[in-house]
Amino acid sequence: MTTTHDERSLPLPPGNSGLPVVGETISFLTDPDFAKKRQQQYGSIFKTHLFGRPTIMMIGSEAIRFLLTNENHYFSSSWPYSTRVLLGPAALSIQTGDEHQQRRKLLSQAFQPRALAGYASTIENITHSYLDKWERMGTLTWYPELRKYTFDVACKLLVGTDATADTHFSELFEVWCEGLFTIPMRLPWTKFSRALRSRQQLLAKIEEIVLQRQQQPNSSQDALGILLQARDDDGNSLSLQEIKDQVLTLLFAGHETLTSAIASFCLLLAQHPFVLLSARAEQQQLGLSEPLTLEYLKQMTYLEQVLKEVLRVFPPVGGAFREAIKSCEFNGYLIPQGWTILYQIGRTHQDTTIYTQPEHFDPQRFAPERAEDKSKPFSHIPFGGGVRECLGKEFARLEMKLFAALLVREYEWELIPRQNLDMVMIPTPHPRDGLQVKFRRR
Ligand code: HEM
Repeated sequence: MTTTHDERSLPLPPGNSGLPVVGETISFLTDPDFAKKRQQQYGSIFKTHLFGRPTIMMIGSEAIRFLLTNENHYFSSSWPYSTRVLLGPAALSIQTGDEHQQRRKLLSQAFQPRALAGYASTIENITHSYLDKWERMGTLTWYPELRKYTFDVACKLLVGTDATADTHFSELFEVWCEGLFTIPMRLPWTKFSRALRSRQQLLAKIEEIVLQRQQQPNSSQDALGILLQARDDDGNSLSLQEIKDQVLTLLFAGHETLTSAIASFCLLLAQHPFVLLSARAEQQQLGLSEPLTLEYLKQMTYLEQVLKEVLRVFPPVGGAFREAIKSCEFNGYLIPQGWTILYQIGRTHQDTTIYTQPEHFDPQRFAPERAEDKSKPFSHIPFGGGVRECLGKEFARLEMKLFAALLVREYEWELIPRQNLDMVMIPTPHPRDGLQVKFRRR
């Protein structure tokens, strides 16, 4: 299954390169079943052409294990041009090799258990204020509200600002997000150009925040406060330029993905009332009072299974990009140096050799007696894996669990009929009509 001998004689994976220049990019961006259709036609490794580059898509725990355990050996991170330019050269997702490892170590200080424990009460307070607001609204389109909620949490905990007080900041952020996965045409009206302009304005705002914070060190307990004080192994701190790119990356990573995850939780529980009742029964049985500490959250084992299943069914990150830095072989196929690789998370979570009836939403598959994901490594990978595994994984798990626990304890919601619940997949999965619900206290 693995490495090189005489690679020139190996075939490329099957597949289609699509149209000249654009390749299959348009279907990739618009067809939610892009990977599924090609997997059915060609198998779990196939070639295509995306964002101007010959690309190989890899699906399944073995392929992903090969990819993620060979980071920096055969593969290196490589995002499409639009994403690279908009995230900025100093963003962790863009850095590679030793520089990436060093920076990761430094940034991870903001996500250590001690830091997380300090974040819990802020998340709890913001969650309560939104739950109250939604109760007052009664009928609402939930997805845009959930975006505001996660952005509020991200702004407060990552940079110590109040997003509700600065709506311009969140508007700029939305325009910037819309350009991340686009064909990078620099014409004034394109999503890409508009996003580039927003990036400049966002960086200026972040610079203002950083400069203010540098005047008042130790002022608040958030990720920026920790990053401003962090030093690498040589005692160096992060430059202003780098802090700006890193903060923008964290805001993006901590907002878009989490909105998708909690919106999917709300949708799936509305569609599976028995799961909601079981999650509520667990809360009642545990009888834990607020504030919900990390210790308390650990005791919610059924809720943990539910959240794991939500991330299996609708993983917020559909996949991630790499570049082959050395030619290699996988399952008899050549992966040529210089090609882009896209590992696919959603299809990997549908593998029938790992998951029984994977199309069903069934949190019990993660109960200790079944533990389906433990049959093979890299089969449950919503947060990726290896040296580039999600840096905010524990932060994300904390926010999801707090939100879910507070919601199921005291509230009920039902889907308004005749809305389109089909999932739009890019940039992260969300229901097409924005998840319209009736919301009330129990
Ligand atoms: C449910 C929520 C989330 C999901 C599903 C998710 C998923 C992922 C995945 C799959 C990757 C790996 C991409 C790759 O292989 O290149 C990743 C990387 C990353 N995530 Fe998350 N993420 C979530 C939340 C967060 C949060 C809350 C933060 C920070 C506040 C965050 C920060 C990052 C960063 C900085 C990276 C890049 C890591 C590196 O390249 O070393 N993520 N995330």
